[in-house]
Amino acid sequence: MERTFLMIKPDGVQRGLVGEVIRRLEAKGFMLVGLKLMSVSQELAEQHYDVHKDKGFFKGLVEFITSSPVVAMVWEGDGVVASARKIIGATNPLTADPGTIRGDFGLSIGRNLIHGSDAVETANREIALWFSEDELTSWKPAATPWLYE
Ligand code: RTP
Ligand code: MG
Repeated sequence: MERTFLMIKPDGVQRGLVGEVIRRLEAKGFMLVGLKLMSVSQELAEQHYDVHKDKGFFKGLVEFITSSPVVAMVWEGDGVVASARKIIGATNPLTADPGTIRGDFGLSIGRNLIHGSDAVETANREIALWFSEDELTSWKPAATPWLYE
């Protein structure tokens, strides 16, 4: 089954939106398999956003991610990588559709509340970067037959 890595950024935690974010993913039917509140080291933030290391916003982005705790999560389900990105919305909250997390709660690109892996391969890399195998739990929600044909 497909898995994705989602991270509620410092602004989402500080603004009390952890429950709201989790509620939306649970309500969709996705299954939580890993969850932790944590402070992010400089090294982890740099590794996570390695693809952006040459961009002008990289330094500020790393400073932001390390400034206050985040909630790191792994979610599982059919098509969860692309679907979670839709639930999150476009990178810039001002152009993100209403009904998405960024569209409903955000105002600026540098405070866009949540990260979601952008492809299955990226998700596998990010899950391995943020979680050890024993922090992930495989389980079968009772609702599974009511979610999948
Ligand atoms: P994320 O990786 O955080 O899920 O966001 P994303 O895929 O929608 O966007 P991405 O292009 O990967 O950019 C990563 C994060 O960098 C910040 N950013 N700032 N100031 C800027 O022009 C700018 N561009 C990107 C955003 O916080 C974005 O989420
Ligand atoms: Mg990205």
